[in-house]
Amino acid sequence: MWSGRFREPLDRTFEQWQRSFPFDVRLLPQEVAASKAHARMIAAAGILSEAELEAMIEGLDAVGDISAEGMPDEPGLVNPRQLGAELGTTPGSIRRWLRRQPEFSSHHVKWARIALALDDPLLLKLKTHFAVQENLNLGDGFAGEASFDTTYADLVSSAPHAEDIHHFVELQLTKLIGDLALKLHTGRSRNEQIATDMRLFVREGVDRTTKGLRNWALALVELAERAGGAVMPSYTHLQRAEPVLVAHWLLAYVSMIERDLARLADARKRMNLCPLGSGAVAGATLALDRSIAAEALGFDGPTTNSMDATSDRDFLLDFTQALATLGVHISRFAEELTLYSTAEFGFLDLPEAFSTGSSAMPQKKNPDFTELIRGKCARLVGVTTTLAVLIKGLPLAYNKDLQEGQEPVFDAADTIDGILRVLPGFTCSLRFRFDRMKSAATTGYLNAMAAATYLSNKGVPFRKAHEIIGNAVRLGLESGRELNELKLEDLRQLSDAFAEDFFAAITLEATLDCHDVVGGTARARVGAALAAAKRNLEENS
Ligand code: ARG
Repeated sequence: MWSGRFREPLDRTFEQWQRSFPFDVRLLPQEVAASKAHARMIAAAGILSEAELEAMIEGLDAVGDISAEGMPDEPGLVNPRQLGAELGTTPGSIRRWLRRQPEFSSHHVKWARIALALDDPLLLKLKTHFAVQENLNLGDGFAGEASFDTTYADLVSSAPHAEDIHHFVELQLTKLIGDLALKLHTGRSRNEQIATDMRLFVREGVDRTTKGLRNWALALVELAERAGGAVMPSYTHLQRAEPVLVAHWLLAYVSMIERDLARLADARKRMNLCPLGSGAVAGATLALDRSIAAEALGFDGPTTNSMDATSDRDFLLDFTQALATLGVHISRFAEELTLYSTAEFGFLDLPEAFSTGSSAMPQKKNPDFTELIRGKCARLVGVTTTLAVLIKGLPLAYNKDLQEGQEPVFDAADTIDGILRVLPGFTCSLRFRFDRMKSAATTGYLNAMAAATYLSNKGVPFRKAHEIIGNAVRLGLESGRELNELKLEDLRQLSDAFAEDFFAAITLEATLDCHDVVGGTARARVGAALAAAKRNLEENS
């Protein structure tokens, strides 16, 4: 890419060590899209003829297809898309299955693609295998097409000389369309390319996260609906505080998600500008119409300053910081469920499908899912620190350090994808022990606040009312009675503001309904909040 100025070859060890291709290979789709956009832009500037542009676009599409298909469309060879459609599966699943077969060998690999001849016995075996697999839900398994799968590993080993994804695409394009490929780099720099590829990657990450997050919110809403009028204790300082509706508790997480969604939408809007045309640092050396590339890639327009655009990684920070906050929310949810599923709380039995046993203690059911979720969220938080430290000391503009920002972002994107693939299903499968929750909410003087409110409604100043009810609680504790079990005479010893209607004011229902404010746990308020949350999610989906 830059050998002209050099007389000595690179140190072998250094060369291998500094390569980013082993991990930036996953930017292939983004690199191809950005290259096509650049090709259109230089064609408009007169660098490529109509026919050259067409050949270039076709060539770039073919380079991109390597990962989309994994197997070539050649006479005598299987067409993976067709085969996948025929067998009701995906090219990726076919590829993964093939790689696990003992007959599979290097002669089945051609130019980093799986090449299976029509008369290969392995083909028959493959067809039989997939034909007998009924109800296989191969499309959304963990080893999804979006993850770092075997195709990418193949690509990396097939191109040991490719320094990075930009170099790789040029090498492959040259193989396919010859010297014409060398024109692609006219008027551009890898500095703007990587900035563009990463923006595209992050934008897709935002969109996937948004979708997954909505699913989780819908699961919570469904759970809240199912909980109906069920109650539980709320806690402050992890001490029982006041009764709340279970739905109210679940909707607290929906409120967090609403903010997470807003943060992601905001980050997306801010990052959606196209660096192409920024050159290496000072702007392209050709009079390019930058709006062509911006439009081709679905950006709102070109970036405004070439030095900033080639070195700006704020969008990585915005994205990962939004994920870190989201991770904090998810982790708190996981922690609460871990706690509530203990024998000490007994508010729910963890679904067996998401729990594991202990190899040592036969009686155990461990909350591995919620624990692992808590652990994964630590990674999300860690990534933001890595990126902030990486960027904070960089002079303008591009510096190679920035290459180190890719893997943490990939990790964050994969981590949140993984979490959001399982979390909604887990949430839907939760079954609470409402009887236990209710008994925890109706013992331990959780209606003390409602009782104090009763007195203050009778004209007793709240500070005084607080003290009187404190005395009543002590009386109850000494005699093993809840507030509603105390005798009116006893209460009247403490204050003559107590009357017969006191007992109606401290029932469970009254205790809930006295919180009749926007955002409170009064039953009607929670009903309205639930409807609003649902509407909000449906409107924005
Ligand atoms: N692999 C590089 C990166 O990720 C691409 C940009 C390289 N630019 C350069 N001038 N060496 O940052």
